[in-house]
Amino acid sequence: MLFGTMTTQDNQLTIGGRTARDLIADHGSPLYVYDLALIKHNLRAFKTHFSSKLFDTRIAYASKAFLTKAMVRLLQAEGTSLDLVSAGELHTAIAGGFDLSQALFHGNNKSPEELELCLSHGVGLIMVDNIDELDQLIERAAASGQVVHTLLRVNPGVEAHTHEYVITAKHSSKFGESIYDNERIAAIMNRYRDQSHVVLDGFHCHIGSQIFDITSYLKTIEVMSTFINKITAQFELSISTLNLGGGFGVFYTDGDTPMDIETTGRTLIRALEEKQITNELSIKTLIIEPGRSIVANAGTTLYTVGHTKRTYGGKHYLFVDGGMTDNIRPALYQAEYSADLANRMTDQKDTHYTVAGKLCESGDVLIRDIQLPAANPGDILAIYSTGAYTYSMASNYNRLLRPAVVFVEDGKSSVVVRRETYDDLLRNDV
Ligand code: LLP
Repeated sequence: MLFGTMTTQDNQLTIGGRTARDLIADHGSPLYVYDLALIKHNLRAFKTHFSSKLFDTRIAYASKAFLTKAMVRLLQAEGTSLDLVSAGELHTAIAGGFDLSQALFHGNNKSPEELELCLSHGVGLIMVDNIDELDQLIERAAASGQVVHTLLRVNPGVEAHTHEYVITAKHSSKFGESIYDNERIAAIMNRYRDQSHVVLDGFHCHIGSQIFDITSYLKTIEVMSTFINKITAQFELSISTLNLGGGFGVFYTDGDTPMDIETTGRTLIRALEEKQITNELSIKTLIIEPGRSIVANAGTTLYTVGHTKRTYGGKHYLFVDGGMTDNIRPALYQAEYSADLANRMTDQKDTHYTVAGKLCESGDVLIRDIQLPAANPGDILAIYSTGAYTYSMASNYNRLLRPAVVFVEDGKSSVVVRRETYDDLLRNDV
Protein backbone atom coordinates (compact mmCIF):
# COMPACT_ATOMS: atom_id res chain seq x y z
CA MET A 1 0.00 0.00 0.00
CA LEU A 2 1.29 3.47 -0.85
CA PHE A 3 0.90 6.06 1.90
CA GLY A 4 0.95 9.84 2.02
CA THR A 5 2.43 11.49 -1.06
CA MET A 6 3.71 8.25 -2.60
CA THR A 7 2.71 7.66 -6.21
CA THR A 8 3.75 5.61 -9.20
CA GLN A 9 4.80 7.63 -12.28
CA ASP A 10 6.20 6.08 -15.43
CA ASN A 11 6.92 2.82 -13.63
CA GLN A 12 8.83 4.73 -10.90
CA LEU A 13 8.00 5.10 -7.22
CA THR A 14 7.92 8.72 -6.11
CA ILE A 15 7.86 10.04 -2.55
CA GLY A 16 7.26 13.71 -1.82
CA GLY A 17 7.54 14.43 -5.54
CA ARG A 18 10.93 12.74 -6.01
CA THR A 19 11.60 9.38 -7.61
CA ALA A 20 13.31 6.70 -5.58
CA ARG A 21 15.87 6.46 -8.37
CA ASP A 22 16.81 10.15 -8.05
CA LEU A 23 16.87 9.97 -4.25
CA ILE A 24 19.39 7.13 -4.39
CA ALA A 25 21.40 8.94 -7.08
CA ASP A 26 21.57 12.07 -4.91
CA HIS A 27 21.98 10.56 -1.46
CA GLY A 28 23.36 7.05 -1.89
CA SER A 29 22.08 3.64 -0.82
CA PRO A 30 20.65 2.34 1.44
CA LEU A 31 18.59 5.36 2.37
CA TYR A 32 15.90 6.14 4.93
CA VAL A 33 13.33 8.42 3.26
CA TYR A 34 10.64 10.24 5.25
CA ASP A 35 7.56 11.82 3.71
CA LEU A 36 7.46 15.03 5.69
CA ALA A 37 3.90 15.90 4.66
CA LEU A 38 2.64 12.59 6.07
CA ILE A 39 4.37 13.11 9.42
CA LYS A 40 2.78 16.58 9.66
CA HIS A 41 -0.59 15.18 8.62
CA ASN A 42 -0.42 12.52 11.34
CA LEU A 43 0.64 14.98 14.03
CA ARG A 44 -2.22 17.30 13.10
CA ALA A 45 -4.72 14.42 12.94
CA PHE A 46 -3.83 13.42 16.51
CA LYS A 47 -4.27 17.02 17.63
CA THR A 48 -7.60 17.44 15.89
CA HIS A 49 -9.20 14.15 16.82
CA PHE A 50 -7.89 13.80 20.35
CA SER A 51 -9.50 16.98 21.58
CA SER A 52 -12.30 17.64 24.02
CA LYS A 53 -14.23 20.55 25.43
CA LEU A 54 -14.12 18.91 28.85
CA PHE A 55 -10.36 18.61 29.28
CA ASP A 56 -7.08 19.56 27.58
CA THR A 57 -5.17 17.04 25.53
CA ARG A 58 -1.44 16.83 24.92
CA ILE A 59 0.10 14.75 22.17
CA ALA A 60 3.56 13.72 23.36
CA TYR A 61 5.39 12.12 20.45
CA ALA A 62 7.34 9.05 21.63
CA SER A 63 10.89 9.92 20.58
CA LYS A 64 12.09 6.34 20.75
CA ALA A 65 10.29 5.61 17.47
CA PHE A 66 12.53 8.01 15.53
CA LEU A 67 14.42 11.05 16.72
CA THR A 68 16.82 13.44 15.06
CA LYS A 69 17.38 17.16 15.48
CA ALA A 70 15.25 17.82 12.40
CA MET A 71 12.43 15.77 13.90
CA VAL A 72 12.72 17.78 17.12
CA ARG A 73 12.48 21.05 15.18
CA LEU A 74 9.41 19.75 13.35
CA LEU A 75 7.72 18.75 16.62
CA GLN A 76 8.51 22.12 18.14
CA ALA A 77 7.04 23.91 15.11
CA GLU A 78 3.92 21.73 15.26
CA GLY A 79 3.46 22.40 18.97
CA THR A 80 3.75 18.75 19.95
CA SER A 81 4.99 17.56 23.33
CA LEU A 82 7.86 15.13 23.49
CA ASP A 83 8.22 11.86 25.38
CA LEU A 84 11.89 11.23 26.23
CA VAL A 85 13.46 8.23 27.93
CA SER A 86 17.18 8.88 28.16
CA ALA A 87 19.85 11.53 28.49
CA GLY A 88 20.64 10.90 24.81
CA GLU A 89 17.10 11.70 23.71
CA LEU A 90 17.11 14.71 26.03
CA HIS A 91 20.39 15.89 24.54
CA THR A 92 18.89 15.60 21.04
CA ALA A 93 15.83 17.57 22.15
CA ILE A 94 18.05 20.31 23.54
CA ALA A 95 20.17 20.37 20.39
CA GLY A 96 17.00 20.70 18.31
CA GLY A 97 15.90 23.70 20.39
CA PHE A 98 12.92 22.03 22.06
CA ASP A 99 11.07 23.82 24.86
CA LEU A 100 11.66 21.24 27.59
CA SER A 101 8.81 22.50 29.72
CA GLN A 102 6.74 20.62 27.12
CA ALA A 103 8.74 17.40 27.50
CA LEU A 104 7.98 14.26 29.52
CA PHE A 105 10.73 12.06 30.87
CA HIS A 106 10.32 8.29 31.24
CA GLY A 107 12.42 5.31 32.25
CA ASN A 108 12.36 2.45 34.72
CA ASN A 109 15.96 3.07 35.79
CA LYS A 110 16.68 6.75 35.42
CA SER A 111 20.28 7.48 36.32
CA PRO A 112 21.23 10.18 38.84
CA GLU A 113 22.60 12.12 35.86
CA GLU A 114 19.25 11.87 34.06
CA LEU A 115 17.27 13.04 37.09
CA GLU A 116 19.70 15.92 37.49
CA LEU A 117 19.35 16.86 33.81
CA CYS A 118 15.55 16.85 34.13
CA LEU A 119 15.77 19.28 37.04
CA SER A 120 18.44 21.54 35.59
CA HIS A 121 16.69 21.77 32.21
CA GLY A 122 13.19 22.19 33.60
CA VAL A 123 11.65 19.10 32.00
CA GLY A 124 7.90 19.64 32.39
CA LEU A 125 6.77 16.28 33.68
CA ILE A 126 8.66 13.31 35.06
CA MET A 127 7.13 9.82 35.02
CA VAL A 128 8.05 8.28 38.34
CA ASP A 129 8.60 4.55 38.03
CA ASN A 130 9.15 3.36 41.59
CA ILE A 131 9.59 4.44 45.19
CA ASP A 132 13.39 4.51 45.16
CA GLU A 133 13.34 6.86 42.24
CA LEU A 134 10.74 8.99 43.99
CA ASP A 135 13.01 9.24 47.04
CA GLN A 136 15.94 10.32 44.90
CA LEU A 137 13.82 12.88 43.14
CA ILE A 138 12.50 14.30 46.41
CA GLU A 139 16.03 14.61 47.74
CA ARG A 140 17.28 16.42 44.66
CA ALA A 141 14.26 18.70 44.29
CA ALA A 142 14.46 19.65 47.97
CA ALA A 143 18.19 20.35 47.69
CA SER A 144 17.68 22.67 44.73
CA GLY A 145 14.48 24.18 46.14
CA GLN A 146 12.48 23.17 43.07
CA VAL A 147 8.94 21.95 42.70
CA VAL A 148 8.79 19.09 40.23
CA HIS A 149 5.63 17.79 38.57
CA THR A 150 5.27 14.04 38.11
CA LEU A 151 2.95 11.24 37.09
CA LEU A 152 3.30 7.83 38.66
CA ARG A 153 3.64 5.09 36.08
CA VAL A 154 1.29 2.27 36.95
CA ASN A 155 0.56 -1.07 35.44
CA PRO A 156 -3.21 -1.51 35.04
CA GLY A 157 -2.95 -5.23 34.32
CA VAL A 158 -4.39 -4.76 30.83
CA GLU A 159 -2.05 -6.46 28.42
CA ALA A 160 -2.78 -5.58 24.85
CA HIS A 161 -1.82 -7.70 21.92
CA THR A 162 -2.37 -6.73 18.35
CA HIS A 163 -5.84 -8.21 18.12
CA GLU A 164 -6.92 -8.67 21.72
CA TYR A 165 -6.30 -7.71 25.26
CA VAL A 166 -5.94 -9.83 28.36
CA ILE A 167 -6.34 -8.88 31.95
CA THR A 168 -3.40 -10.49 33.56
CA ALA A 169 -3.06 -11.59 37.13
CA LYS A 170 0.70 -11.72 36.70
CA HIS A 171 2.07 -8.26 37.16
CA SER A 172 5.65 -8.78 36.22
CA SER A 173 6.31 -5.81 33.98
CA LYS A 174 9.54 -4.00 34.72
CA PHE A 175 7.72 -0.71 34.19
CA GLY A 176 5.82 1.10 36.91
CA GLU A 177 3.92 -0.22 39.90
CA SER A 178 0.92 -2.53 39.72
CA ILE A 179 -2.35 -0.85 40.67
CA TYR A 180 -3.23 -4.05 42.51
CA ASP A 181 -0.25 -3.80 44.84
CA ASN A 182 -2.03 -1.89 47.59
CA GLU A 183 0.94 -1.83 49.92
CA ARG A 184 3.40 -0.37 47.47
CA ILE A 185 0.89 2.11 46.11
CA ALA A 186 0.06 3.23 49.66
CA ALA A 187 3.75 3.65 50.49
CA ILE A 188 4.23 5.79 47.40
CA MET A 189 1.14 7.91 48.06
CA ASN A 190 2.28 8.54 51.63
CA ARG A 191 5.71 9.54 50.42
CA TYR A 192 4.13 12.04 48.04
CA ARG A 193 1.95 13.40 50.85
CA ASP A 194 4.84 13.83 53.30
CA GLN A 195 6.68 16.48 51.30
CA SER A 196 6.04 19.39 48.97
CA HIS A 197 8.82 19.32 46.37
CA VAL A 198 7.56 16.53 44.16
CA VAL A 199 3.93 16.89 43.13
CA LEU A 200 1.76 14.00 41.93
CA ASP A 201 -0.29 15.36 39.01
CA GLY A 202 -1.66 11.97 38.04
CA PHE A 203 -0.95 8.58 36.55
CA HIS A 204 0.62 7.10 33.47
CA CYS A 205 0.09 3.73 31.86
CA HIS A 206 1.11 2.16 28.56
CA ILE A 207 -0.39 -1.17 27.61
CA GLY A 208 1.68 -2.24 24.61
CA SER A 209 2.55 -1.41 21.04
CA GLN A 210 1.10 -2.10 17.58
CA ILE A 211 -2.39 -2.45 19.09
CA PHE A 212 -5.38 -2.74 16.75
CA ASP A 213 -8.04 -3.51 19.30
CA ILE A 214 -9.66 -0.33 20.63
CA THR A 215 -11.32 -2.29 23.43
CA SER A 216 -7.86 -2.61 25.05
CA TYR A 217 -7.84 1.14 25.53
CA LEU A 218 -11.49 1.27 26.59
CA LYS A 219 -10.78 -1.38 29.19
CA THR A 220 -7.76 0.62 30.36
CA ILE A 221 -9.90 3.74 30.76
CA GLU A 222 -12.33 1.69 32.88
CA VAL A 223 -9.62 0.23 35.07
CA MET A 224 -7.74 3.51 35.46
CA SER A 225 -10.91 5.46 36.34
CA THR A 226 -11.76 2.99 39.09
CA PHE A 227 -8.19 3.11 40.37
CA ILE A 228 -8.02 6.92 40.34
CA ASN A 229 -11.34 7.17 42.20
CA LYS A 230 -10.18 4.75 44.83
CA ILE A 231 -6.84 6.48 45.32
CA THR A 232 -8.21 10.03 45.43
CA ALA A 233 -10.75 9.01 48.06
CA GLN A 234 -8.30 6.99 50.11
CA PHE A 235 -5.50 9.55 50.14
CA GLU A 236 -7.52 12.76 49.70
CA LEU A 237 -5.65 13.67 46.55
CA SER A 238 -6.62 15.73 43.59
CA ILE A 239 -5.54 14.10 40.35
CA SER A 240 -5.47 16.31 37.27
CA THR A 241 -3.70 14.26 34.62
CA LEU A 242 -4.12 10.89 32.96
CA ASN A 243 -1.53 9.63 30.48
CA LEU A 244 -2.66 6.63 28.42
CA GLY A 245 0.68 6.06 26.66
CA GLY A 246 0.98 5.12 22.99
CA GLY A 247 0.70 1.88 21.09
CA PHE A 248 -1.72 2.68 18.25
CA GLY A 249 -1.16 0.11 15.51
CA VAL A 250 -0.27 0.73 11.88
CA PHE A 251 -0.47 -1.13 8.59
CA TYR A 252 2.61 -3.07 7.55
CA THR A 253 1.21 -5.96 5.50
CA ASP A 254 -2.17 -7.39 4.46
CA GLY A 255 -3.93 -8.63 7.56
CA ASP A 256 -3.00 -5.57 9.61
CA THR A 257 -6.19 -3.73 10.43
CA PRO A 258 -5.40 -0.51 12.29
CA MET A 259 -8.10 1.98 13.15
CA ASP A 260 -7.51 5.41 11.68
CA ILE A 261 -6.44 8.24 13.96
CA GLU A 262 -9.82 9.93 13.67
CA THR A 263 -11.86 6.91 14.80
CA THR A 264 -9.40 6.07 17.56
CA GLY A 265 -9.43 9.65 18.82
CA ARG A 266 -13.19 10.04 18.69
CA THR A 267 -13.82 6.72 20.44
CA LEU A 268 -11.36 7.27 23.27
CA ILE A 269 -12.30 10.90 23.83
CA ARG A 270 -15.99 9.94 23.96
CA ALA A 271 -15.27 7.22 26.54
CA LEU A 272 -13.30 9.67 28.69
CA GLU A 273 -15.94 12.39 28.35
CA GLU A 274 -18.63 9.98 29.54
CA LYS A 275 -16.55 9.29 32.63
CA GLN A 276 -16.14 13.03 33.22
CA ILE A 277 -19.87 13.67 32.87
CA THR A 278 -20.77 10.91 35.31
CA ASN A 279 -18.05 12.13 37.68
CA GLU A 280 -16.25 8.83 37.50
CA LEU A 281 -13.26 10.86 36.40
CA SER A 282 -12.36 14.51 36.73
CA ILE A 283 -9.15 15.11 34.85
CA LYS A 284 -7.98 18.41 33.46
CA THR A 285 -5.44 16.95 31.05
CA LEU A 286 -5.24 13.81 28.94
CA ILE A 287 -1.85 12.89 27.51
CA ILE A 288 -1.18 10.31 24.82
CA GLU A 289 2.23 9.23 23.53
CA PRO A 290 1.99 7.96 19.95
CA GLY A 291 5.27 7.03 18.28
CA ARG A 292 4.83 4.39 15.59
CA SER A 293 1.49 5.78 14.36
CA ILE A 294 3.14 9.12 13.56
CA VAL A 295 6.23 7.97 11.69
CA ALA A 296 5.96 4.32 10.60
CA ASN A 297 4.04 4.77 7.36
CA ALA A 298 5.93 7.97 6.54
CA GLY A 299 9.23 6.10 6.29
CA THR A 300 10.51 4.01 3.38
CA THR A 301 13.91 2.37 3.18
CA LEU A 302 15.49 2.27 -0.27
CA TYR A 303 18.08 -0.41 -0.99
CA THR A 304 20.06 -1.37 -4.05
CA VAL A 305 19.65 -4.94 -5.22
CA GLY A 306 22.88 -6.93 -5.49
CA HIS A 307 22.95 -10.59 -6.28
CA THR A 308 20.17 -13.14 -6.28
CA LYS A 309 20.63 -16.78 -5.39
CA ARG A 310 18.62 -20.00 -5.68
CA THR A 311 19.67 -22.40 -2.95
CA TYR A 312 19.80 -26.19 -3.21
CA GLY A 313 17.15 -26.19 -0.47
CA GLY A 314 14.77 -24.23 -2.68
CA LYS A 315 15.03 -20.66 -1.37
CA HIS A 316 15.28 -17.82 -3.83
CA TYR A 317 17.19 -14.97 -2.24
CA LEU A 318 17.31 -11.37 -3.28
CA PHE A 319 20.20 -9.64 -1.53
CA VAL A 320 20.25 -5.94 -0.69
CA ASP A 321 23.00 -3.60 0.46
CA GLY A 322 21.68 -3.22 4.04
CA GLY A 323 19.78 -5.51 6.37
CA MET A 324 19.38 -6.11 10.09
CA THR A 325 21.72 -3.21 10.85
CA ASP A 326 19.25 -0.68 9.43
CA ASN A 327 16.12 -2.67 10.32
CA ILE A 328 16.39 -5.15 13.19
CA ARG A 329 12.62 -5.61 13.50
CA PRO A 330 12.18 -8.70 11.26
CA ALA A 331 15.03 -10.50 13.08
CA LEU A 332 13.94 -9.37 16.53
CA TYR A 333 10.14 -9.55 16.31
CA GLN A 334 9.47 -11.49 13.09
CA ALA A 335 8.06 -8.19 11.86
CA GLU A 336 6.66 -8.25 8.34
CA TYR A 337 6.91 -5.60 5.65
CA SER A 338 5.74 -5.04 2.12
CA ALA A 339 7.97 -3.82 -0.69
CA ASP A 340 8.29 -3.07 -4.39
CA LEU A 341 11.03 -2.69 -6.94
CA ALA A 342 10.86 1.09 -6.94
CA ASN A 343 12.22 1.48 -10.48
CA ARG A 344 9.83 -1.12 -11.92
CA MET A 345 6.57 -0.49 -10.13
CA THR A 346 4.22 -1.73 -12.83
CA ASP A 347 6.25 -4.71 -14.09
CA GLN A 348 4.74 -8.15 -13.64
CA LYS A 349 5.41 -9.48 -10.12
CA ASP A 350 6.06 -13.01 -11.24
CA THR A 351 9.00 -14.05 -9.05
CA HIS A 352 9.01 -15.24 -5.48
CA TYR A 353 11.86 -14.02 -3.26
CA THR A 354 13.17 -13.98 0.25
CA VAL A 355 14.79 -10.57 0.78
CA ALA A 356 18.01 -10.87 2.80
CA GLY A 357 20.62 -8.38 3.87
CA LYS A 358 24.39 -8.56 3.73
CA LEU A 359 25.16 -9.24 7.40
CA CYS A 360 26.95 -12.35 8.64
CA GLU A 361 23.91 -13.78 10.35
CA SER A 362 21.37 -16.28 9.03
CA GLY A 363 18.59 -14.31 10.70
CA ASP A 364 19.41 -11.31 8.54
CA VAL A 365 16.21 -11.58 6.51
CA LEU A 366 14.11 -8.49 5.83
CA ILE A 367 11.14 -10.11 4.08
CA ARG A 368 10.54 -13.85 4.19
CA ASP A 369 8.12 -14.17 1.27
CA ILE A 370 7.37 -11.65 -1.44
CA GLN A 371 6.37 -11.56 -5.09
CA LEU A 372 8.40 -9.07 -7.16
CA PRO A 373 9.41 -8.64 -10.79
CA ALA A 374 12.49 -10.76 -11.60
CA ALA A 375 15.18 -8.52 -10.15
CA ASN A 376 18.44 -7.36 -11.67
CA PRO A 377 21.50 -6.00 -9.88
CA GLY A 378 21.09 -2.25 -9.51
CA ASP A 379 17.30 -2.37 -9.17
CA ILE A 380 15.96 -0.40 -6.20
CA LEU A 381 14.00 -2.17 -3.50
CA ALA A 382 11.67 0.05 -1.48
CA ILE A 383 10.56 -1.44 1.82
CA TYR A 384 7.51 0.46 3.07
CA SER A 385 6.46 1.65 6.51
CA THR A 386 9.94 1.52 8.00
CA GLY A 387 9.68 4.90 9.70
CA ALA A 388 9.41 3.62 13.28
CA TYR A 389 12.02 1.76 15.34
CA THR A 390 14.44 1.22 12.44
CA TYR A 391 16.87 4.14 12.38
CA SER A 392 16.44 4.43 16.16
CA MET A 393 17.41 0.76 16.61
CA ALA A 394 20.14 0.68 13.97
CA SER A 395 23.59 -0.75 14.66
CA ASN A 396 27.05 -0.99 13.13
CA TYR A 397 27.20 -4.79 13.19
CA ASN A 398 29.89 -6.04 10.80
CA ARG A 399 31.10 -2.41 10.82
CA LEU A 400 28.39 -1.41 8.36
CA LEU A 401 27.72 2.31 8.08
CA ARG A 402 24.34 3.64 9.14
CA PRO A 403 22.45 5.02 6.12
CA ALA A 404 21.59 8.68 5.65
CA VAL A 405 18.11 9.95 6.55
CA VAL A 406 16.36 12.36 4.20
CA PHE A 407 13.10 14.27 4.53
CA VAL A 408 11.25 14.83 1.26
CA GLU A 409 8.52 17.34 0.57
CA ASP A 410 7.25 19.17 -2.52
CA GLY A 411 9.90 17.72 -4.79
CA LYS A 412 12.81 18.58 -2.51
CA SER A 413 14.89 16.25 -0.39
CA SER A 414 17.02 17.37 2.51
CA VAL A 415 19.54 15.31 4.40
CA VAL A 416 18.65 15.33 8.10
CA VAL A 417 21.22 12.73 9.12
CA ARG A 418 24.26 12.32 6.91
CA ARG A 419 25.48 8.86 5.97
CA GLU A 420 28.09 7.56 8.37
CA THR A 421 31.68 7.47 7.15
CA TYR A 422 34.43 5.00 7.94
CA ASP A 423 36.00 7.75 10.07
CA ASP A 424 32.76 7.92 12.10
CA LEU A 425 33.22 4.22 12.80
CA LEU A 426 36.67 4.85 14.24
CA ARG A 427 35.80 8.05 16.08
CA ASN A 428 35.66 6.45 19.52
CA ASP A 429 38.30 3.78 18.96
CA VAL A 430 41.37 4.42 21.11
N1 LLP B 1 4.91 5.45 25.67
C1 LLP B 1 5.62 4.52 26.31
C2 LLP B 1 5.75 4.60 27.76
C3 LLP B 1 6.24 3.49 25.59
O1 LLP B 1 6.93 2.56 26.24
C4 LLP B 1 6.12 3.44 24.18
C5 LLP B 1 6.77 2.39 23.42
C6 LLP B 1 5.37 4.45 23.55
C7 LLP B 1 4.78 5.44 24.33
C8 LLP B 1 5.20 4.51 22.07
O2 LLP B 1 4.55 3.38 21.56
P1 LLP B 1 4.10 3.33 20.02
O3 LLP B 1 3.02 4.36 19.84
O4 LLP B 1 5.30 3.66 19.19
O5 LLP B 1 3.65 1.94 19.82
N2 LLP B 1 10.79 -1.56 19.35
C9 LLP B 1 9.45 -2.08 19.28
C10 LLP B 1 8.45 -1.15 19.93
C11 LLP B 1 8.78 -0.88 21.37
C12 LLP B 1 7.81 0.08 21.98
C13 LLP B 1 8.30 0.51 23.30
N3 LLP B 1 7.48 1.48 23.94
C14 LLP B 1 9.10 -2.30 17.82
O6 LLP B 1 9.92 -2.04 16.95
O7 LLP B 1 8.00 -2.78 17.50
